Order: sequence, then structure tokens, then C-alpha cells
Amino acid sequence: MKISLIGTGYVGTVSAACFAELGHDVICVDIDSSKIEKINEGIPPIYEDGLTDLLKKHAGKKLSATSDYNFAVMNSDISFICVGTPSDPSGNIDLGIVKAASSSLGEALKDKKDYHVIVVKSTVVPETTEKVVLPIIEEHSKKRSGEFGIAMNPEFLREGKAIYDFMHPDKIIVGSMDKRAGDIVASLYSGLDCEITRTNPRTAEMIKYVNNAFLATKISFSNEIGNICKHLDIDTYEVMKAVGKDFRIGPYFLNSGAGFGGSCFPKDVKALIGKAKDIGYEPLILGSVIKVNEKQPGRMVQLLKNELGDLKGKKITVLGLAFKNDTDDIRESRSIPVIEELLDNGALVLAYDPMANENMSKLFGNIKYHSNASDALRDSDACLVMTEWDEFKSLDKEFDLMRHKLIIDGRHMLTPRRDIKYIGLCW
Ligand SMILES: NC(=O)c1ccc[n+]([C@@H]2O[C@H](COP(=O)([O-])OP(=O)(O)OC[C@H]3O[C@@H](n4cnc5c(N)ncnc54)[C@H](O)[C@@H]3O)[C@@H](O)[C@H]2O)c1
Repeated sequence: MKISLIGTGYVGTVSAACFAELGHDVICVDIDSSKIEKINEGIPPIYEDGLTDLLKKHAGKKLSATSDYNFAVMNSDISFICVGTPSDPSGNIDLGIVKAASSSLGEALKDKKDYHVIVVKSTVVPETTEKVVLPIIEEHSKKRSGEFGIAMNPEFLREGKAIYDFMHPDKIIVGSMDKRAGDIVASLYSGLDCEITRTNPRTAEMIKYVNNAFLATKISFSNEIGNICKHLDIDTYEVMKAVGKDFRIGPYFLNSGAGFGGSCFPKDVKALIGKAKDIGYEPLILGSVIKVNEKQPGRMVQLLKNELGDLKGKKITVLGLAFKNDTDDIRESRSIPVIEELLDNGALVLAYDPMANENMSKLFGNIKYHSNASDALRDSDACLVMTEWDEFKSLDKEFDLMRHKLIIDGRHMLTPRRDIKYIGLCW
């Protein structure tokens, strides 16, 4: 099958490389010419484990990139919309980029004689495919639904494990308005060992939000329990390990810590809250999930202040800037509010992340970035652990370089040492 993917960020590039690996011919489309150039040279525009190998293998053969929507639509049977769906200033979903991509696709579809399917892969609130994307495509293509196909196929990949997740999905959801379009989308995944759930677009859209909202709820719930446990001198990890043995609960996403970040959980929970309010429902649990999450970073700085008092002029090391390990993505990283608060308090911030220094330097020009943990820890007054990078687990003699041996662990990943004051966020 010939596929075009609109938007070559995390989802678009990974999907493109994996569809090519599954044997399809893929055209990537982006408005960012630097990304187009990179992909055509076989260089991923983002870091993702295994992506370089796949792009090198398929670029110039089964995979190419362009900024020309007409070329992409004329030379493919299906177009996936994979552009970003950020929050607007009030937290509601901002569909501006999806609308722009839909208009361009509609224009490109105008002159196409053959049947073509448009698939929304971006995470969009329920009703968007039917009530926003479809009308825009009809208006710009001067065609009616049925003359072209429309479907919704949400993406569940985890950054850092994205290639594996695409190739080994636990679910594939295809929401379509008619069988013909849905059959075509489903056929793309026939090479994967996974049941395909067929439904309508708004249910597919909702499944994606509920998936993320439930995982975020597990994290905030675990953080709330962790905060209570800490006051009572109870090891919350021991509690949750036992609780997770209940098959109805499961052992995953019960780790308390600095909270969830990333390009999806915060914005998706907020978007679902916004959609619920739009229809006149006040979602109490979802609101609390966000509130608990927003308070966790501040709790870390408070623990630091309890130990050091005034932070003015103190050198504070922040280990980990990415929102999670194995990615260079810093979107909504919990280290961002922590660094902001440290700077507000007059601290000098020394930072190290194995991959995300460069991205964070675009946000904070006024902190000192180091290329290894030793340099970031040298002469430091305290260390905050923000991201669960594997390499942090084996840090040991590096802490000897600190002026004042104090660690606040936001991820429950360091083994306490007798000569270091170790404070866990919720334990
Ligand atoms: N990142 C994830 O882990 C993940 C996982 C599942 C779902 N999603 C969802 O997938 C969608 C995309 O997320 P992402 O993280 O890949 O976004 P991203 O911001 O990394 O990439 C979006 C890309 O779209 C391009 N773009 C912007 N406007 C365009 C236009 N008019 N035409 C063509 N390209 C355009 C941008 O240049 C960028 O390269 C979002 O809705 C997100 O919620 C993301």
C-alpha cells in the first residue's frame, strides 16, 4: 500500500519508518524543510531507539520526504494526519495545526480521481474527525464523504520504546465512518500480530484519551498515597508492590515520584477536561489528577529548602532534564517547574541529561549544562534526581565531588549511602 504521513515528529517519523519496514511505500510530509532534508538523508529528526537503523534502511527506497502535499496525495492511497495537538492557553485542545493540515489535504485531494482515505492519527478530542476534519476536507476538496474515506486511528506508542510499541502493539483501534475506509486502514496492519478493534471515529478518539487519562490517574493516585505514606513513615513502594499484586489493579504505573510530564499525559488529560466542560460536565477526578501532578515538583524544592534553608547562591545539581529516560523530549518535563523555582529562589543550577541538554538550553539559557554527571555534581550543595535514566542508578563516586552531600530523589532510583543525606520524595 502507498501511504503518506503528514507531520514528521515523533509519531509521524516512527510510523513512517515502521510502515516502510512492514513493506509499504511511504511519503512523509512536513512544513519544516530541515526535517524533510534529514529524513531524505536517512537521519531521524528526533531521537528514538532503533529509528536511525530503520531510516537508513528505507530512505531513498521505500521512504521519502517532501513538503509538497499534492505530490504526497497523488502518490499515495492513504494519508495519516500526525501533526501536533497542543493545549491552548486555557488547557483546551488547540486544533489549529490539524485544521491547517486538513485544509492542505483537502486542496490536494481536489484533483485526485482515485479513492483516497484520510486518517486522523493525531490525538484529538471526540467528534473532531467527524465535525472538524471531515467538513474541512469536504470544503477544500469539493468532494463528499464517501467519494473519499475518513477514519481515526489513534497512536499508543511510548517515546523511548516507540519502534517496539509500533511493531508489538497491544491494541490497534480503527474508527471509521464506513466499512470501505476502515478495511483499508486495518489492512495496513495485517503484518502485525494484534487484534484490530473496529469502531466509529468518536469512540476511537475517546479510547485514546481514556487510555492516557487512566494511566495519568494511576500516577497521581500513587503520588497522593506516597505523600501520605511519607508523613506516616511508611514505605509507599512496599505498599504499592503489594497492592499491585491484585490482578484487578496490576503492578504498573504505581510508582510515586515527581509526577508525569511529556507531550501527551498533561495535555491530553487537560483536553479531556476541556471537552467534558464543553458538554456541561465537571470532571472532578481528572481535575485532581492534574492538581496532584502540578504540586509534586514544588514538594521536591520544599524538601530541599527544609534542608538548606535559603537557596540564594546555592549550587543545585539537576540530574535529568528529559521528561523520561531514553528520549531527548523535554515537553512538560517535571524538571522545568523545578528549575524555574530554583532560579526564582536565587539558586545556581548545574544540569546534566544524557540526551536533553540541548533541548533544555532552548528553554533555559541561564543554567549551566554539563556533559557528564561528575562535572554537574562538582562543588554542588545538593542534587535533585528528576529523570529515571539507567546511568544514574550506577552513580557512586561521582557524589563524592559534591560540597554538601544531599540528594533529593524524585524517581526512587538511587541506593542510599551512609555518608550521603538521601531524601526520597514520597518515601
Ligand atoms: N509523542 C508521542 O509519544 C505521542 C504518542 C501518541 C500520540 N501522540 C499524538 O500524536 C500527535 C503528534 O505528536 P508528535 O509528538 O509526533 O508531534 P510533534 O510536534 O513531534 O510533530 C508534529 C510535526 O508536524 C509538523 N507540522 C506542523 N504543521 C504542519 C502542517 N500544516 N503540515 C505538515 N506538517 C506539519 C511539525 O513540523 C512537526 O514535525 C499529537 O496529537 C500527539 O498527542 C503523540
